[in-house]
Amino acid sequence: MKKLILVITIFLSVATAFPQGKRIGNEAEVQKKERMGWWVHDRFGMFIHWGIYALPARHEWVKNYERISDEQYQKYFDNFNPDLYNPKEWVRKAKEAGMKYVVLTTKHHDGFCLFDSKYTDYKATNTPIGRDLVKEYVDALRTEGLKVGFYYSLLDWHHPDYTIDGFHSQRVEDEKEYAKLNKGRDMNKYREYLHNQVRELLTNYGKIDLLWLDFSYPGENGKGSKDWDSENLLKMVRSLQPGIIVNDRLDLNEYEDGWDFTTHEQYKVSKWPEVNGKKTPWETCQTFSGSWGYYRDEYTWKDSKQLLGLLIESVSKGGNLIMNVGPTARGVFDERANASLAAFGNWMKYNSRSIYGCTQAPEEFEAPAMSLLTYNPETNRLYIHLLDYPLQNLVLPNYKGKVKYAQLLHDGSEIAVSARSAEDIKENEYPNDLTLSLPVRKPNDEIPVIELILE
Ligand code: GLC
Repeated sequence: MKKLILVITIFLSVATAFPQGKRIGNEAEVQKKERMGWWVHDRFGMFIHWGIYALPARHEWVKNYERISDEQYQKYFDNFNPDLYNPKEWVRKAKEAGMKYVVLTTKHHDGFCLFDSKYTDYKATNTPIGRDLVKEYVDALRTEGLKVGFYYSLLDWHHPDYTIDGFHSQRVEDEKEYAKLNKGRDMNKYREYLHNQVRELLTNYGKIDLLWLDFSYPGENGKGSKDWDSENLLKMVRSLQPGIIVNDRLDLNEYEDGWDFTTHEQYKVSKWPEVNGKKTPWETCQTFSGSWGYYRDEYTWKDSKQLLGLLIESVSKGGNLIMNVGPTARGVFDERANASLAAFGNWMKYNSRSIYGCTQAPEEFEAPAMSLLTYNPETNRLYIHLLDYPLQNLVLPNYKGKVKYAQLLHDGSEIAVSARSAEDIKENEYPNDLTLSLPVRKPNDEIPVIELILE
């Protein structure tokens, strides 16, 4: 009996020390790390939400928010003619902003497809523009060497077999009505459609680097992994594109490998997110103004400093930022989006070294007052981002013996490093601090960066 108890105790302690979650595939941890290498390194991407909702120009959920019927929504399809669409220009702007990957909505929740799918007529090739807009986008990215990402909506408010629920544009107040409303709708057929379209996207456009599936809302009146058959969908995705990186919205969270990174939408995480006690690869997706699709009369645009703060803070906690642009119905970025992108570009031109290849700083380094740290483990350099530019002296708490050289990143000019003042040391108050002597005049950078070459 004693022996049995001992065996059980050992088993339980081993099992809790190494929790073995369920798995879909058999990729080893190191392989996953390798597969995600470029994404973790590059840190900064562009999201593009574009579709016929650019015509009403008041949010990509307009059909849902205003409960617009298919018939009423049809005018946006009939008039979709983005004559200025030139994805080369989009890609150039992404590149200038310092973004390394782009993710475009091939289909959003309204069901409209920017690509030439053989499974629907509800696609760009049947609108006045008459072109496969996804193909041109992929070509432009490839030519410029940026990574290619597809967003695909799991929801579909247009497909006749997608059952109506509380998230549907045709939702009703009385829950009991749904059974009647959904008579004749067959989710099996929709599921097949969804799988077919994802197969098309991952077969007809060459190598796709990233897939952003959106979203699941499991529960009594919702939809989740069973409705999408997420398990088989993911298997298919991985077999068609073995190198692809997939987000976490398939409702496969109980699997260790049911997703590659977590998605934190429109909020700042307080620390590096963990899943089952383990730090996870993560990305925050953010808008310039609150809406993903082009919104003409939206005025809550973030300023340059807030935008840069989003990027730096994400990297300082080991994550990525994907920043969204909603092109207009003519197919271009409007002047507000261009100005926001330029804010990134101006800063990244001189400071990208504190972003690419960087991550959270080792714990031994405390961030000086009003600053954010990032760290490049390859080069062993630490970056101090000054959110509030101090007057002349910046104290580095307990950095003594750790710094070989210090410079301003934007111009590579030396910064004098010294121990704390003789008086402080005499009092034996700060024996391990260092002080940096900064120029009085704030460098011409929204957020100046100090580069420390560490011992
Ligand atoms: C949400 C919204 C959607 C947007 C997405 C981006 O799930 O439904 O409109 O595409 O987030 O993260």
